[in-house]
Formats: sequence, structure tokens, C-alpha cells
Amino acid sequence: MATVTERIAPPQVRQTSCFIGGKWIPAVSGKTFETIHPATEEVICEVAEGDKEDVDLAVEAAREAFDTGPWSKIDARDRGHFLNRLADLIEEESEELAALETLDNGKPIGDARAADIPLVIDCLRYYAGWADKIHGKTIPIRGDYFCYTRREPVGVVGQIIPWNFPALMAAWKWGPALAAGCTIVMKPAEQTPLSCLRMARLAQKAGIPDGVINVVPGYGPTAGAAIVKHPGVDKVAFTGELATAKIIQRDAAETMKRLTFELGGKSPNIVFADADLEAAVEGAHFGLYFNQGQCCCAGSRVFVEEPIYDEFIHRLAAKNSQRRLGDPFDPATEQGPQIDQAQFDKILKYVEYGKEDGAECLTGGKRFGDQGFFVEPTLFAGVTDDMRIAQDEIFGPVMSTLKFSGMDEIVSRANNTNFGLAAAVWSRDVGKAHHLASKVRAGTVWVNCYDVFDAAAPFGGFKQSGLGRELGEAGLEAYTENKTVTMAIG
Ligand code: NAI
Ligand code: MG
Repeated sequence: MATVTERIAPPQVRQTSCFIGGKWIPAVSGKTFETIHPATEEVICEVAEGDKEDVDLAVEAAREAFDTGPWSKIDARDRGHFLNRLADLIEEESEELAALETLDNGKPIGDARAADIPLVIDCLRYYAGWADKIHGKTIPIRGDYFCYTRREPVGVVGQIIPWNFPALMAAWKWGPALAAGCTIVMKPAEQTPLSCLRMARLAQKAGIPDGVINVVPGYGPTAGAAIVKHPGVDKVAFTGELATAKIIQRDAAETMKRLTFELGGKSPNIVFADADLEAAVEGAHFGLYFNQGQCCCAGSRVFVEEPIYDEFIHRLAAKNSQRRLGDPFDPATEQGPQIDQAQFDKILKYVEYGKEDGAECLTGGKRFGDQGFFVEPTLFAGVTDDMRIAQDEIFGPVMSTLKFSGMDEIVSRANNTNFGLAAAVWSRDVGKAHHLASKVRAGTVWVNCYDVFDAAAPFGGFKQSGLGRELGEAGLEAYTENKTVTMAIG
């Protein structure tokens, strides 16, 4: 595999400091941290390690831009123009951004080119269109009054994002926030700060005024917690682990912040015996192994109806043996490394749990190669609901397959989890599919497809998979406050 130095051009790593009030500045403490290329474990560069002092400066800049500065005075439609301009600049640099994403995250360049970056652009354009369509209502209250509502921006928003889709998570959060008229303090994940910083530079080039977007790279318990506790931040939008969300919820209680959470899952992918078998195999494979299994909505519990179970896992195993792992910069690569040592260790620990609990490991279960955090696509058969690999989010290329018989059984087993992010059903029987879609407690249900995302379609979790929704109109509403104005007209 080529070294990082051979990879540096392209992409060029240009932005490595904090972006606050339109200025690129080192952390107040002068500290930096390393970000690495997960395929070779080499250090790419040092990045400013923001902490409370930097967050204070960023919130100050964001408050000023919101309270008295330019962003509050700009016409709604012009906010949309800025978003469109940002999308255009990202499109111009999409090859460079895709490479930066592959460098920092380790995801295959083919995925970054075909999925991450186009979805970033589409999301920003979608929300650009909303900026001048955020309407209140007129309300016929009793008496001689004129009553109307205004949908106002919630204010300064803190946005804390994970490392699995670094640029896309930034877009999901910037799009609705900017369309609604909010200003932003973002903390990218410590594993993957680079594409977010590049996007901030492009936002600056697009003419988005200073202080509207601020980026403070750094760690969660320091920079992240400082955002959550800051009294000048009106809302926190977070994507990541459930345990982190619970800390954030506690930390945010003191200042009664608005919160939206997009958390983990243990999503059931349910294959009935009457399904198009080949399409379902493909969907189960893609639904779990895509992005190295590092998807909040990964279909990690694959339930297969009894008559087709043996044939199904046979086909899954065959597919796994053909999956191409390797250099993520090779366009033919289908699976890159996991993000870091901690995730790599966690995944292999769960492989051991699977074996201990009595599941059969049909493929994978071990490291691939001798460099980087690669894990072979792993397939467990004979998994039962109580096993740890069927209960916990693994966030890696580990699929649990479970046998079921009939509708009544599958509804309760699918729902036998504290999570509720996504689910899928594969069947040629439309009635069966809709019945299941109505019974499963999950924010998204895919029928005869998996991982179909669109900026216009809301996404989020039931139960402990989240709070609120992102994307679509619902995602926009989460960045607004409802104000009621009542005027005597008698
Ligand atoms: P994490 O939840 O710790 O990190 C996500 C973001 O939260 C990062 O930017 C991090 O710096 C920040 N953060 C961490 N602690 C914080 C705190 N006390 N206050 C404010 N911000 C804080 O997730 P991590 O440790 O990277 O991954 C652990 C597990 O979480 C994974 O194995 C996976 O199961 C799950 N996860 C789920 C994601 C999803 O999309 N739902 C994304 C990433 C991880
Ligand atoms: Mg963590």
C-alpha cells in the first residue's frame, strides 16, 4: 500500500486549525492532535485541539453573527443563495473532497465519490430551497384579535458529529441550520476533522459571513462538552453513540437546550420466504457491510424465514468471499479499514462473544492483512435473540443471521430491542410488507431495498435510537422556534 506521503497530492491537506469568526487560528492552548489514515495507521497531520476557551470564542462569534451581525439581517432567499453557492463550490472540488474523506476516514474512494460527496451536495441544495419557504400560520382565535405564528431560527446551534460519514454529517447539520437562519459551532469527530474544515473554507469562499459557521476540532469530553454546557448555545444536534447522548442530555439540562439526537441501532432486516432471493441477499450484504459496517442504520440483525434460511446464508457466505478488501484509494476496493484501533478491538471482541455464545462463524472473524484496521466481512449463523451479537451495536462488518417462522413471531422479535432506527422487509407480498412496516417500531422502514436515503425524507429513531428527525421538513423544524403574535384589532 502506498504511504500517506505519496497520497498527499491529491488530496492536499490545507485546513488544520480552528475556524472561528472567519479566522483560521490555532487552539488557545497551542495543543494539537494527530489524525491518521486508517489503512496504513500513518499520521496525516496535526490538527488544532480545541477546548473550552476555543469554544467560548466560537460561541461569541456565532452569537454576534446571530444577535446583531449579518446573518439575522440577510433575506431568507439569500440564505438559500449562499447554500447553493456552497454546494456549487463543493461540486467543483468534489474529487479533492472525496479523496480527503478517503484519506481521513479510510472509506473506499468509490463510495466517497458515488455516495458521500454527491449526497452532501444534494442535501445543501435541498435545504437551499427551503430557506424562503419557512412559513407561520394565521390562527382564528376567539375575540377581535389577529393571531399569527412566526417560525424563527432557534439561535446558535452546537453540532457534534461522528466519523463514519464526516462530510455528509456536516451537510445534514449545516443545511437545515443555515436555511432556518441559525449560526453554528461545529465539532467534528477527532478521528476525521479534515473534510469538515475544508467545507468551512468553501463556506467562506461562498461568502457566508464570518461567524455564521465556526468549527472547533477537538475531543468530546473537552470541546464537545464545552459546547453542550455553554449558556450561549441554544440547541445541540448530536450524532453518535447512545452513551454519549445520555451524557449530553444531562449536561444540557442545566441550560434547557433544545436537543436532537441521531444515535445507534440494531436494525432488523427481515427476509420472507417469498422474497426475490437474489435481491434480498444483495440488500442484506449491502445493508450491513456498506461503509465497513459503520452505519447507524446497519441491518445487523438479518432475520430469514425458516424455509430459505440455509440457502440464504450459503449465498451470503459466497458473496462475502468475493468482497474486495484493500487500499481504499483503489477504485475497485469495496471495503476499507475500520476507523481506528478502538473500533477494531471492539469488533473483534464481539466476534469472540459471538463464538462464546454459541453462534457459528461462517466467514471472516479476523483481521485482514497486517497493516491498518481491516476486518474481514464476518457472518454468523444460528444467532439467537439473547446473544450479545444480536443485542449490541457492533458498528463493524459483523452480520448476525437469525431464523424465524411467520409474521406474529417476527414482529415481536424485530421489536425486541431498545433501538428503533431502521428496519427492512423483503417480500413479494405487498400486504405483508405494509403490515410489517406499520408494526415495526423504527423511524425508517425500507421495503425491498436498503439504505435508500434522500434529503427530502426524514430520518431518525424511535426509542433509544434518537430524538427528533433530520432531513426533510421535519429536520428543518428542529432548527426553528414557534412564536405566537397576537394583536388586538377591535
Ligand atoms: P461518540 O458518541 O463518543 O462520538 C461522536 C461525537 O461525540 C464525536 O465528535 C465525539 O468527540 C463527541 N463526544 C464524545 N463524548 C462527548 C461528550 N461527553 N460531550 C460532547 N461530545 C462528545 O462515538 P465513538 O466513541 O466515536 O464511537 C463509539 C460507538 O458509538 C461506535 O462503536 C458506534 O456503536 C457508535 N456510533 C454511532 C454513530 C451513529 O451514526 N449513530 C456514529 C459513531 C459512533
Ligand atoms: Mg466515544
